[in-house]
Amino acid sequence: MADERWVEIGAVEDVPRPGARRVKRTGKPFPIAVFRTADDRVFALVNHCPHRGAPLSEGYISDCTVSCALHGWVIDLETGKAQAPDEGAAAKVPLQIVEGRIYLAAWAVAAPGGWE
Ligand code: FES
Repeated sequence: MADERWVEIGAVEDVPRPGARRVKRTGKPFPIAVFRTADDRVFALVNHCPHRGAPLSEGYISDCTVSCALHGWVIDLETGKAQAPDEGAAAKVPLQIVEGRIYLAAWAVAAPGGWE
């Protein structure tokens, strides 16, 4: 996929199912977390819980949510929003999958990255 708006990160199969992996990036305060659900959906969020900033990649994935490992806030992987009554959101990162390869929006990655 020759399109400079997207950066290839790796294969869907590189991410545990269910699970998450972090993506390196430079010039930004937090890495990106790429999540894979048990039914093989893939999402990307900035790896920073909207509560107190714990890494969401270390949380527990259930259906289409991740429960933060620190205090248990539940974050919707599709929107990045915390479930009520909690409020706030982790920033969502645009993602495409082409032939089993994961591409993230170039503006979010900031520099050619890869898995941490
Ligand atoms: S830091 Fe994530 S729930 Fe508190």
